[in-house]
Amino acid sequence: MKSLGEFIVEKQAEYPHARGNLSGILAAIRLAAKVINRDINRAGLVNEILGDAGAENVQGEQQKKLDVFAHKTISAAFFARDDVAGFASEEEENFIAFDSEKNRNAKYIVLTDPLDGSSNIDVNVSVGTIFSIYRRVTPVGTPVTLEDFLQPGSAQVAAGYVVYGSSTMLVYTTGNGVNGFTYDPAIGVFALSHENIRLPDDGTIYSVNEGQYLKFPLGVKKYIKYCQDDLPSEGRPLTSRYIGSLVSDFHRNLLKGGIYMYPQGSNYPNGKLRLLYECNPMAFLAEQAGGMATDGKRRILDIQPTKLHERSPFFVGSRKMVEKVHEFIEKNPD
Ligand code: AHG
Ligand code: MN
Ligand code: MN
Repeated sequence: MKSLGEFIVEKQAEYPHARGNLSGILAAIRLAAKVINRDINRAGLVNEILGDAGAENVQGEQQKKLDVFAHKTISAAFFARDDVAGFASEEEENFIAFDSEKNRNAKYIVLTDPLDGSSNIDVNVSVGTIFSIYRRVTPVGTPVTLEDFLQPGSAQVAAGYVVYGSSTMLVYTTGNGVNGFTYDPAIGVFALSHENIRLPDDGTIYSVNEGQYLKFPLGVKKYIKYCQDDLPSEGRPLTSRYIGSLVSDFHRNLLKGGIYMYPQGSNYPNGKLRLLYECNPMAFLAEQAGGMATDGKRRILDIQPTKLHERSPFFVGSRKMVEKVHEFIEKNPD
């Protein structure tokens, strides 16, 4: 058995230029994941955890108590170490510049969706945590600025997620393939279980909130009908699977092959998902596993962000499936 800690040390030895700080950040995420995992697992037993927090986040969405708890857990895990100069989260309007001298001297910043799919918590369905790590662009020794956070996804140095599912897994990339670790709660260790994950080139699963069908662009509607065509010789109809937690839907499609779509629609003119801490990390993982991620036209990782919480349409998964939906979008301009 190889633990996540051992794996990180091993990888670092292979890349001596890589600094120890990144390992420290991953250690903080690993620790936060264990704490969040513990509380999610007990959610039904602990009144203070289930339900709404009674406030809205910057997106105007109802915060769950666990959203707030996960946010606090992760920011505390980073704050307790010296490896991160700044931190941004779905649950806070502005980024946080950690202001101790050691933090100001750190080279990295982190963005997170502390709890993804939080509407699923109260009904015991899988949720996740997403993270995205960049090298800061402003000089070390100074407080971080918004510029450090508004970098295109292609500049990520690491990204990943934790899925709290039938088992808890941490999946991450540092730009050299994707590896997955399953949590063994008896010994408190994430053990390497999915080495060098490859996203199948083609798949049989499409994942989209079909209740919004009428609001989608014409090309996407036609692609959905294409997925549903009764054409056994071509392997259709495909299978529809949608959990409503990006992390869980992405994780399934990553392992089995498939496409996840959250297109723009009349209710979400720019899509619903957040570019910086939902689309970018998943796009980095997808590409590292051999898949593709776009906004329907452009590669997600090439987009220059202009706002911390900006949204983007999102198409991610098996390369051939993303290419196919692109064909439909190109042929059917709205
Ligand atoms: P979050 O819980 O972090 O706000 O994210 C919810 C996101 C994403 O996880 C999921 O895929 C999507 O919202 C589901 O949206 P719909 O309910 O509109 O399908
Ligand atoms: Mn989310
Ligand atoms: Mn969230």
